Amino acid sequence: MPRESQEQHSQSRGTHPRHPKLGRGQPTHPAWWFAGACCALMWTIIILGGLLVLIFYLVFRPKSPRLDIQSATLNAAYLDTGGLLNADVTILANFSNPNRKVNVAFSYVQVDLFFLGTMVASQAVEPFAERHRQSALKNLHMVASEVALPREAAEEWRRGTSEEGVALELAGRFRTRSDFGKWIHFTYWLYGRCTIVIGAPPSGVLISSRCRTKR
Ligand SMILES: *[C@@H]1O[C@H](CO)[C@@H](O)[C@H](O)[C@H]1NC(C)=O
Repeated sequence: MPRESQEQHSQSRGTHPRHPKLGRGQPTHPAWWFAGACCALMWTIIILGGLLVLIFYLVFRPKSPRLDIQSATLNAAYLDTGGLLNADVTILANFSNPNRKVNVAFSYVQVDLFFLGTMVASQAVEPFAERHRQSALKNLHMVASEVALPREAAEEWRRGTSEEGVALELAGRFRTRSDFGKWIHFTYWLYGRCTIVIGAPPSGVLISSRCRTKR
């Protein structure tokens, strides 16, 4: 009997203070309910969206295509006394798609050749596409014709072509599309940068190359 009364007592104590609160909150009740529903819906959308992105990455594991230099030759080079450079460089570039499931397509490919900050030649490549795990070798024939070099650059070129070789900078811009299955595509700019060292002509072969590709 005392136990029952105690229960009753605690129950009445528990519910009693709530009644006035509920009464006061009554007019704003639908608004709060609506806000709560919106909040729950928003979180559901955020969590589902995050899960979808995670699944997308786990399924496709997307990677950027890469640019590497396979070989390069300095066929001919002539620097006249006025500092005007004539040079003929052949570069074999390797565009590779390291993805297992993603196909890529290059709709615009332009490669510029620099010597100590001066652009000496430029070359465009016809659009091409690569399936997953494919790579394509592209021949870049870079011709520098009467390019005015600053005095220090001209001296450096003379020194390089008579000694250990010249260091050239290759900068490529690629309009790239990644195909994730049939319906999802992403188009973006990709930038490739390579530093190559070529020996003195006429047997100017590739001595070293280092490339970096980034978005
Ligand atoms: C191009 O590069 C890829 C990735 O580095 C390599 O697997 C492939 O063998 C290269 N292609 C050629 C023709 O060397």
